[in-house]
Amino acid sequence: MLNNKNDKSEDKLIPRHIAIVMDGNGRWAKAKYRPRLFGHHKGLETVREIVKACNALGVEYLTLFAFSSENWRRPEEEVNGLMNLFMSALKKEAKSLAKNGVTLQLIGDRSAFSEKLQSKIAQVEDLTAGGKGLRLLIAANYGGRWDILQAAKKMAREHVESEMNEAVFETLIATQNIPDPDLFIRTGGERRISNFLLWQLAYTELYFTDTLWPDFNKKALRLAINDFSQRQRRFGKTGDQIQEDKNNA
Ligand code: IPE
Ligand code: IPE
Ligand code: MG
Repeated sequence: MLNNKNDKSEDKLIPRHIAIVMDGNGRWAKAKYRPRLFGHHKGLETVREIVKACNALGVEYLTLFAFSSENWRRPEEEVNGLMNLFMSALKKEAKSLAKNGVTLQLIGDRSAFSEKLQSKIAQVEDLTAGGKGLRLLIAANYGGRWDILQAAKKMAREHVESEMNEAVFETLIATQNIPDPDLFIRTGGERRISNFLLWQLAYTELYFTDTLWPDFNKKALRLAINDFSQRQRRFGKTGDQIQEDKNNA
């Protein structure tokens, strides 16, 4: 599950796939007596820094929770502001993503977005397809339950019961063919999953930080990775078995 591509300066295990719940933009803005949208704009700067850092570290997949299937419940003004921000970020960042070999892919139910936004997403996906660096998955109008349900529906439609198993299911889920996250990070102090990747997080290492997303940075990412690299992942086995596997590798 881990690669050995090391950061130049330090010798540590780098997770292949990091999944992040980017939380705390609203509270960050509120503390500064600014509108919530100001926090989302600042949050986008953090996204830029973290994408760059992950690409440089040799992380293969980064999944960012940008908008949940429940976030439509927010005030209309905030939802509209977030959609506009998403659109302008796609326009602004597309070229530099492609230039840096970052492949962008959206996971989530995109049918709820405006036609314009849907076509922009498709355009950026096409432009960045086949990049040699980081694969960036943006979870937008994404819900873990939606994902499981849409995969279950496909499985029921396309397979008879004897063909139904976890391996087949994994080809139908939104993250198809992508290894499960090794490290989950949630900023903003809450200790919950909030309907993010429910199926995929089964054996992911969870890391929670009180740092609000706009204050999160490369250094904070490094702390999370350090913490991760000290954990023993057992996947149901005993610690001794894992040690033995390591010795035999
Ligand atoms: C996360 O920050 C960003 C989105 C959900 C789009 P929040 O907007 O949830 O910030 P808080 O939790 O209110 O501080
Ligand atoms: C989770 O954050 C969703 C995203 C970061 C996009 P929320 O702020 O929506 O989560 P809850 O409502 O506090 O659980
Ligand atoms: Mg929040």
